[in-house]
Amino acid sequence: MQIFLDTAEIDEIRARTAAGLVDGITTNPSLIAKSGADIFERIAEICEVISGPVSAEVVATDTQGMLSEGRRLRAIAPNVVVKLPLTRDGLAACRTFADEGVPTNVTLCFSLNQALLAAKAGATFVSPFVGRIEDMGGDGIGLLAAIREVYDQFGYETGILAASLRSALHVEEAARIGCDAATLPPKIFDSMVAHPLTDAGLKAFLEDWNKTGRGGLG
Ligand code: E4P
Repeated sequence: MQIFLDTAEIDEIRARTAAGLVDGITTNPSLIAKSGADIFERIAEICEVISGPVSAEVVATDTQGMLSEGRRLRAIAPNVVVKLPLTRDGLAACRTFADEGVPTNVTLCFSLNQALLAAKAGATFVSPFVGRIEDMGGDGIGLLAAIREVYDQFGYETGILAASLRSALHVEEAARIGCDAATLPPKIFDSMVAHPLTDAGLKAFLEDWNKTGRGGLG
């Protein structure tokens, strides 16, 4: 499963790419607004740090506007993925981009029907928002599983990008279902590596080793 960071903060990205565990980045208008950066400059900076897919979202709400904004975003770097809202206009823009070979991420997906339409529109990725569905009392993980089942049944190649994840458990569930990618806030990415038994075990190993007085292995 590909792991993307869901942030527009360049320092947060730089700090987490060294180990090669981050495959890409997703941004949205709220994250860009929060960063205070110019969207074109910030996406260019991110694309210099990471060569995998970098989702940059349009803010136009009509198809022509989305196509024009998407082309400007796509011109920033070859790894930019044009992020489009899951609306009728967004799906029309998605189809045009798919026919042109431009990668897309159809976002704000909250139902199986929406995911079905995104696949039929030729989306590269569809982003179901797990956490926001659970906030409303719905079954976000169940939606991921249903999309996986239907995409496999019909051979749709659209990648399922689990989004709006709120915990490390969500990441595990997305992986078990067979999502193609998951996008996580940096703090959830950090929590994937942490386990109290790892910390306790390492502490005990090092205490035992230090008792020998042998020092490091160098
Ligand atoms: C997806 O691409 C979105 O940027 C993101 O995952 C939304 O998450 P949120 O519901 O925590 O804002």
